[in-house]
Amino acid sequence: MPPPPHAAPQFIQLHQTDAAAVRAELAAGLLAQPAQVAPKFFYDALGSRLFDAITELTEYYPTRTEAAIFAQHGAVMAQSVSAGSVLVDLGAGSCAKAAGLFPVLRPAAYVAVDISVRYLRESMGELQQRHRAVPMLGLGMDFSSTLALPVSASDWLERHDLMVAPRCVFYPGSSIGNFSPAQAQTLLRQAHALCAAGGPGGGILIGVDRVKDKAILEPAYDDPLGVTVAFNRNLLLRTNALLGTDFAPARWRHVAFFNEADSRIEMHLQAEGAQTVRWPGGARAFADGERLHTENSYKWQPSDFDALLRAAGFGPVTHWTDARGWFSVFWGPA
Ligand code: AVJ
Repeated sequence: MPPPPHAAPQFIQLHQTDAAAVRAELAAGLLAQPAQVAPKFFYDALGSRLFDAITELTEYYPTRTEAAIFAQHGAVMAQSVSAGSVLVDLGAGSCAKAAGLFPVLRPAAYVAVDISVRYLRESMGELQQRHRAVPMLGLGMDFSSTLALPVSASDWLERHDLMVAPRCVFYPGSSIGNFSPAQAQTLLRQAHALCAAGGPGGGILIGVDRVKDKAILEPAYDDPLGVTVAFNRNLLLRTNALLGTDFAPARWRHVAFFNEADSRIEMHLQAEGAQTVRWPGGARAFADGERLHTENSYKWQPSDFDALLRAAGFGPVTHWTDARGWFSVFWGPA
């Protein structure tokens, strides 16, 4: 008997962090030394569209380089990833990358994880129509704090008789770069535990941006059209909306550079002229030239990332790269 068609994906939204907690987090960041706003706040509707525009820029190589690696090596990758896996897509968004791999990976089920199910509803509805036999679950949760599957998701897997299916954690786009090496280690250990809780044959498929010449790295985060400037400054509008600050985006200069010692691109907004930012219940004075730190994007040497995956319990690790060696897609069996 063929499996029953799954007409519609299911959705579970875990605790939306409440507005008061978000305000407290933003205020604490603004009062820190140096001031900071976390990169997760980039992605409102406008910010997500600005990021999509960034991926179209000639200077921003990661997205198209990773896509080329999947196009060239997808069939070989599929020999490592067990067919019939539960594909757990972290930061799924439009689900486009996973959707492109469905024909080669042939997952038994698809679990798309993103901060909000709102972004998943549309994209998963469409994907479900194209793959009616694959049960799909949209999971709204902030996995940057903890990655463990909630009980409700395990129940869902159980209902579909998938508790012993292998689990493939899919984390493309070099989003792991937003985490420090120590934070990345924690996340990867949790990913390993998630795989180990399923059947044998699971693992992680993860995209990682590599260390390369500054002359290539820096323009990718400071494009001449100014799309990245807008992306970075949108964080100020977002903070104004969420915390009630009075940031004037035009008075903040976009700064992006490669910090070689820490192997990361840093993005900041630099005050043009002394200014005091106020919000209900607080204020922060910025001197002329003082910076607000908005993002780190770590770049890895393949040998170091291999070691990180092995320390998290994965192995033997393999990876595929592009002709220039700019980006790598790693496979680590659990
Ligand atoms: C989505 C985190 C992978 O670090 O390259 C792009 C975000 N920031 N341009 C990256 C980003 C500025 C991007 N990640």
